[in-house]
Amino acid sequence: MERGVRTQDWSLIATCTRGLEEVLRGELQALGHPDATSGRGMVRFRGGMEAVYSANLQLRTGMRVLREIEEGPAASRDELYELASSVAWEEVFSKGLTFAVESAGRGTAFPNSSFASLVVKDAIADRLRARWGVRPDVDRGSPGLVVHVHLARDRAGLALDSSGEPLSHRGYRPMGGPAPLSETLAAGILLLAGYDGSRPLVDPMAGTGTIAIEAALIATRTPPGGRRRFACERWPQHDFAVLQAVRERWSSAHRSAPSAVVAGDRDPKAIAATTRNAQAAGISTALVAVVREVRDLELPGEGAMIVSNPPYGERLGNPRELSTLYRELGDVLKRRGAGATAWLLVGNPALVKAVGLRASRRIVLFNGPIECRLLRYDLYQGERSKSPDERTVPR
Ligand SMILES: C[S@@+](CC[C@H](N)C(=O)[O-])C[C@H]1O[C@@H](n2cnc3c(N)ncnc32)[C@H](O)[C@@H]1O
Repeated sequence: MERGVRTQDWSLIATCTRGLEEVLRGELQALGHPDATSGRGMVRFRGGMEAVYSANLQLRTGMRVLREIEEGPAASRDELYELASSVAWEEVFSKGLTFAVESAGRGTAFPNSSFASLVVKDAIADRLRARWGVRPDVDRGSPGLVVHVHLARDRAGLALDSSGEPLSHRGYRPMGGPAPLSETLAAGILLLAGYDGSRPLVDPMAGTGTIAIEAALIATRTPPGGRRRFACERWPQHDFAVLQAVRERWSSAHRSAPSAVVAGDRDPKAIAATTRNAQAAGISTALVAVVREVRDLELPGEGAMIVSNPPYGERLGNPRELSTLYRELGDVLKRRGAGATAWLLVGNPALVKAVGLRASRRIVLFNGPIECRLLRYDLYQGERSKSPDERTVPR
């Protein structure tokens, strides 16, 4: 059994939404993993319990932190069973710990991924019964250990989930809104935009306030996972003193927000939700929430950033009303946005035309299954409004 954090040098994976891999890699490098390497929807790095705690507490764009256990052939039921049986689970589990197996990806022999979970569950239980004389109990509701199976054609990877609930569940947003953005995507947008808290920021269509709250967390250097627990606290290698030391190190970095963070929305219910969520996140003093129409946009200071996720039709609004709203948004950016930089996450390219401004950068991001564009607009003094036939759809 591995003991002592210094002897642990595991292969770790942080997963993320597609499009945020490089931002996540940058976060891991800043956490002391210069050799972190990115793949599709994930970044690989190395470390032990201390690295696992730091990543869970501190990553803003990571969805889960996994410890890789084994990888190998899985072209049939027997091969996957062999692979899972070859792992020394007795060194990973402790007696009495319940577990669950989750599978994702596509395996040629496993059109139904829950069959793969069943095979791995049997292999683990059979091995532990052979060693210990008792089978560990499966608990799908609140398992002590979650084993992840990643199927990729004829191969499979086995890993332990150290996070439990996805890291996007920061614990500050008990109440949903009509179309809330995931916390990790909101943080990713801000980091892609280069936001570090030093410039004033406004989200004029804030909904439940996710972008503004994530901005306030960045501005105050508050660890996003500081208010929740992680699955790795049930691992046999869990070391409370190391976790406490990691928590204290990060909380000592806390500061007051150096610049204003403003959340606006036309809907008083949205602003009430933003206020409650900001309180739950512990950053209410760093954020101002106001009921305001987007056409009345006010910049919160010199060199402001406007970052927003306007409605785009998949979940909210009808196309004609939305195109009027985007026209209004473009007009107010021209009239009142001079000197600011705007970043808009838009899921419907047809609506982008109505903004009537030329984007200087376009980044593809996924909001769940919806392919979106994050568009950057540099708003100069005297920005010229384009005629309708000049309004082009960005690619
Ligand atoms: C897609 S939601 C924003 C979701 C938000 N990012 C979140 O995480 O909850 C768009 C928001 O724009 C607001 N909105 C729509 N039209 C507006 C207008 N003319 N002025 C201000 N807010 C508006 C809606 O009330 C809604 O809350």
